[in-house]
Parts: sequence; C-alpha cells; structure tokens
Amino acid sequence: MADPHAQGPAGGSALPHSRTPALPHSDVILPGATVGIVGGGQLGRMFALEARRMGYRVLVLDPGRDSPAAQVADDCIVASFDDTAAMRALAERSDVVTLEWENADVATLREIERIVPVRPGPGVLEVAQHRLREKDTARALGLLTAGYRAVATRAELRDALAEIGTPAVLKTARWGYDGKGQAVIRDPSEADAAFAVVTGGADDGPAELILEEWVRFSAEISVVCARTARGETACFPVAENVHKSAILDVSIVPARVPASVADEARRLAEAMAEGLGVVGLLAVEMFVGEDGHVRMNEIAPRPHNSGHYTLEACPVSQFEQQLRAVCGLPLGSTGLLRPAAMVNLMGDDAGTALGRPGVVPALSVPETALHLYGKAEARPGRKMGHLTALGDTPDEALERALRARALLVDGAG
Ligand SMILES: Nc1ncnc2c1ncn2[C@@H]1O[C@H](COP(=O)(O)OP(=O)(O)O)[C@@H](O)[C@H]1O
Ligand SMILES: [Mg+2]
Repeated sequence: MADPHAQGPAGGSALPHSRTPALPHSDVILPGATVGIVGGGQLGRMFALEARRMGYRVLVLDPGRDSPAAQVADDCIVASFDDTAAMRALAERSDVVTLEWENADVATLREIERIVPVRPGPGVLEVAQHRLREKDTARALGLLTAGYRAVATRAELRDALAEIGTPAVLKTARWGYDGKGQAVIRDPSEADAAFAVVTGGADDGPAELILEEWVRFSAEISVVCARTARGETACFPVAENVHKSAILDVSIVPARVPASVADEARRLAEAMAEGLGVVGLLAVEMFVGEDGHVRMNEIAPRPHNSGHYTLEACPVSQFEQQLRAVCGLPLGSTGLLRPAAMVNLMGDDAGTALGRPGVVPALSVPETALHLYGKAEARPGRKMGHLTALGDTPDEALERALRARALLVDGAG
C-alpha cells in the first residue's frame, strides 16, 4: 500500500521506500544514499540543494505541503514532528537523519535512532532545546556566560532579580526564537509584568524560565563548528551579527573584533561541540563583553542564519559541511575566500515577495547573490530570503549588501 505520508515528488523522482541496503550503519555514507531531514524550512532547502548537487537523495519531513525544502528535495513526508509513525517512516527510508529544526521530539528521535543514525543525536537536542541546560553545559566546560538563575515562580523571580540585578532579561527556557518568549526587566517593579508576558498571562508558576543578566556587549558574534563521529572539528570564520527587534538583520565576516577575540570565540564553539559530542553542526551565538571576553549565549545544532555567507565566501558552505559531517566524509576547508556581508530579507519588506520587480535593480550591485526561499506568503517577521555581498573589505561588502537590499525594497513597485 502507498505510504499515506508520501507527497508526490516536488523536485525529482520518487524515492525507493527503503534505504540503500548495502549502506546502513557503515562508517561512511556515500553519494546515492538518502539523507532524511527533520524540518522543511530554508535551512533544509539550502541543505537539500547542496546534498543533491553532491549526488545524495533528500527526504524531508515537515508539516507543510509546499515547504521551502520540499520544493527542492527528492521527496517529502508531510506530517507533524510529533507523528511517531511518520518519523519512523523517515528513518526507514533514510541512511542517516539530520535536522534543520532543533525542537523535534527527543523521545521520538531516541526511538528512531534504533533504526538509523540520527546526527546530531537526541542528547544534543535535549541541551539545545533548553536555555538553562545550554548555559549549565557551558559553565561545566569552564566557559563564560551571562549570570543566570532558573525561575519557576513570581517569588523566585524576585529573589533572582535581587541576585542578578537590573537590567535583566526573563526568557522561557524552551521554544523561544527570534526574541519570542522574552521580556527585558529594567527595574524590579517590572517583574510581575515580565512574568505575565513570558508565561502568556499565568497567575504564577511553576514555569520553566531563566533570568539572565543583561550583557553590555561591544558586539554579538557567532561561530558555526562542524564535528564528525571521528572527533574531527572545523570552525567557520567568526560572524559579527546585528539584530533588529531580536531577529538577525546583518552578518559581517570577518567579524570586526581583535584576533584574540576571534580565537576565543572559535575555541568556545569547538569546546561546546566537543563537550556535547556533536556529529554535524553546532552554531554558537556569543556576546563580546565590554571587558573583551566572549560569553556563550545560545547554541543551535544545525546550520545557522549567520552562516549563510559561507555559500559564497568559503570553499565549502555550512550546508555541505553538515552533509560531510553527518555522512562521515572529510570536513571541507573553512577559510574565508573574501570578506562578506549577509542581510536578511523579511516579510515586512514589500520587495521580498516572490514575483516583485525590486530584484532587478538589486542584482546590479557587484558581487551580490540573491537567495529567496520560495515562501509564497510574505508575513511580518518571516524570513523570506537573504542577500550576500562580497567585497575587498567587510565594510565594502556591508555597503553593497545594504545597498542591494534598499534597491530591492524600494524597487518593489
Ligand atoms: N542576556 C542578554 N544580554 C544582552 N542582550 C541579550 C541577552 N539575551 C538576549 N539578548 C538580545 O536578544 C537577542 C535574542 O536573544 P537570544 O537569547 O539569542 O534568543 P533567540 O535568538 O532564541 O530569540 C540576542 O541576539 C541579543 O541581541
Ligand atoms: Mg539567538
């Protein structure tokens, strides 16, 4: 009987319903094999494009019928992430399973790990899904973080504020992204209001929250580190990140920080990847404190928005590197070929919708590449695509990327 979850092939021929018999659990997963990916967003789309270029088959699991990744994958299982039968089908039809979305159900992943290698493993996700565990892990490895306290109730929040001081930021320990589930507390009198905001109006706990000291940073930076099952690691150059409304707006590479800070950042990312035993990618977001030291902020066990520049500016992109790491291939070179800047295209900008003419003037900017994710509907706060510009210096790349974006938005018509 036909697999009820299978969708007609969006970008290629249908896949066989079982994985390549000769390959399961061998050390190296070779081209021709099927890589399963949990999540069908833009990260999965760019991964799938790279994997298919290298002769792999790609099977996506995502609840959306026309997800960005499904549009370019060999096949797609349309199902929610907590659909155990669908996840099992993904495992049975793949030679290795990786992810582009870290909030997959850990228990389900543990179950399918018995069928297929899951990389990174569920243990890494368990940490990456929880801000307290992320920071506990960093501290246990001797790495710096902002001061923080676990908070479950309003009374605990008051105690934590007395210790941490203000300004501080209260966050949900789970599920937060792009600044969602966060409230800044500038004065202890704002504590109750912040509690209500992040808990969605709960009278009191228990809630799973974290109160963090507000870091006075000179820059926000990130590093994408790859690690293989053999323990080989490779870090990409450090990106300098500027956020707008807590959503990444611009990444500039190399980060305009002293070499000692960049070294510290790479060491920190590598220590986290090794400490967690990651097989795949680990992206680490960090603050450069005004004291010049690097503090771990959060991790993502997958490609990262701040690593998109690697598609144009490095010999091997973060997506190819993810593929190499999860398939047991040698990791690729991560040197920077040329300074780069990436700007996000958000649904708030009229020019970002598909079929808008703003792309025409934008593409006249030298050394600028356009990426659109195939999302039909442009909603505020939604990442529709990005532009990467190269230049002789990071500042020239930044000027080009910003100019291209302005032309794209203004020329929307
Ligand atoms: N403790 C903090 N000190 C200073 N700025 C912070 C702090 N926590 C978060 N921010 C700001 O908010 C942004 C989003 O927070 P983050 O912890 O990265 O959550 P997420 O990206 O998952 O929404 C950060 O990139 C940073 O600009
Ligand atoms: Mg973040």
